[in-house]
Amino acid sequence: MTQSHSLQGQYAVVVGGSSGVGEAAAAMLAADGAEVLIAGRDQGRLDAARERIGGKSAARQLDGADPEQVRAFFADADRKIDHLVLSLSGAAGSGPIATLELDQLAAGFDGKFWPFLRILQAALPHLSPEGSVTFVTAASAGAAFPGTAGLAAINGALQAMVPPLAVELAPLRVNAVSPGVIDTAWWSAVPAEQRAEIFDGLAAATPVGRVGRAEDVAGVIRMLVGNTFMTGTVIDCTGGVNLPTGR
Ligand SMILES: NC(=O)c1ccc[n+]([C@@H]2O[C@H](COP(=O)([O-])OP(=O)(O)OC[C@H]3O[C@@H](n4cnc5c(N)ncnc54)[C@H](OP(=O)(O)O)[C@@H]3O)[C@@H](O)[C@H]2O)c1
Repeated sequence: MTQSHSLQGQYAVVVGGSSGVGEAAAAMLAADGAEVLIAGRDQGRLDAARERIGGKSAARQLDGADPEQVRAFFADADRKIDHLVLSLSGAAGSGPIATLELDQLAAGFDGKFWPFLRILQAALPHLSPEGSVTFVTAASAGAAFPGTAGLAAINGALQAMVPPLAVELAPLRVNAVSPGVIDTAWWSAVPAEQRAEIFDGLAAATPVGRVGRAEDVAGVIRMLVGNTFMTGTVIDCTGGVNLPTGR
């Protein structure tokens, strides 16, 4: 058996699997033989993503911010989950600290930090001990981009939990991938023209000369899911945009 083995016969749940990084990860896992259940809030988006993913994929509605829905989602689970990937997005919490509404920062935690933990706790009794959990966090957690202190707090809190969880929950493996700027629907609130300008500027400031694609991050998730010697790790996938310049 190789480290990044086939996922034939394994079952993965990808929350936030109807778009962007989560969808790309679900597609890679399905392509490598896993049965994949994608979850998200919008049934139409889920159905469309499931069509695109193909393979042995299924979709089920879930709002990770709703404790009752999370409880019911896993209470119904009728089989062991081998791999849990958490890629749901919470967009709130960014902005200059001088003017950042603390309610917005709290909304950011409600949209990402608490759902990740709530889903992890509810999934635990159903997770195979030989399986894995992968958080999709954000490189803002360890970078110094102005206006991202709130996002750093939310994603940094999640990243800080990865090593202790990996030891506490062993042999279940727990890892995170920490993306830089990725061209997904996460940016859809920014008008297209402005987004293109932002991406051009960021590409120029990025060692690899471009912003990321969902598949870049999904490839890291695929590795973390399949490599049974990886645990307690947070892997940056940023094109180098967050590297310290020494200035
Ligand atoms: N794109 C970037 O530049 C970037 C950078 C750093 C980190 N990240 C992180 O990467 C992760 C994936 O983001 P993405 O770029 O792939 O964004 P995306 O394309 O907007 O995908 C987000 C997914 O999460 C689902 N979702 C959102 N809220 C949810 C909730 N409460 N419960 C369940 N599902 C929910 C969405 O579906 P519904 O809306 O239908 O629920 C969608 O499937 C996020 O955690 C984000 O913070 C992204």
